[in-house]
Amino acid sequence: MARSKQKKFADFDKSKYAFDYKNETQLKLLKEALAKWDSVVVELGCGKGAYTIALAEKNQDGLFLGVDIQGERLAFACKVAEDKKLSNCRFFRAPIQRIDEFLEPSSIDSIWLTFPDPFPRLRQAKRRLTSLGLLQKYKEILENEGIIHLKTDSFELANFTKEQIDKANYLKAITDICNVDSLPPDHEARLVQTDFEKKHRSKGATIYYLSARLIEDPAQ
Ligand SMILES: C[S@@+](CC[C@H](N)C(=O)[O-])C[C@H]1O[C@@H](n2cnc3c(N)ncnc32)[C@H](O)[C@@H]1O
Repeated sequence: MARSKQKKFADFDKSKYAFDYKNETQLKLLKEALAKWDSVVVELGCGKGAYTIALAEKNQDGLFLGVDIQGERLAFACKVAEDKKLSNCRFFRAPIQRIDEFLEPSSIDSIWLTFPDPFPRLRQAKRRLTSLGLLQKYKEILENEGIIHLKTDSFELANFTKEQIDKANYLKAITDICNVDSLPPDHEARLVQTDFEKKHRSKGATIYYLSARLIEDPAQ
């Protein structure tokens, strides 16, 4: 690992906002921290945490947890949270594929996926963060009626996600694929533009949004 990356990783490890899945003590502390809040919202693949932080600033009565595997990006997020003195966000370094091992069943209000890698090749489809295998894990941690939000610049990923939602009989689409700019200005999908959103917009990309709700009774 390059020295600057190592330093940022060390900064992440020291931050009071940071929790690492490889550290048993931190895992225990994270569980305790989450249990104190009635409402917990998770951003999966949060990168530098722009969305998690914007959500935390807007909604003071919930806890916002950004999850990513890259410690140096999370170190950046922790520094911003620290500078803003936020009390209601945390950052968790963990592989999303194992998220159901770390978070309690039925404990999460909603999940945000902001600009996940689209993995356009068919043979990589299982790695997409909205593949059926992962939706099943999100189902385990979501409360009944919990919501999954996706923002992406990839129409193919949005379309794939819609197909996966249709296959998952425990999910019901709320918002069909739409251009995020067509949503009301106060919609949370328009709260902030992350680095990736800005990058895609600067190249003229359309930003898509869709959402689905967890349902207990598939007949609903
Ligand atoms: C394209 S970036 C988007 C970052 C951020 N959401 C944004 O919009 O700026 C995708 C992020 O997802 C993270 N990621 C991808 N797959 C992951 C996985 N399986 N577990 C944890 N993080 C993952 C990457 O490390 C990266 O930071």
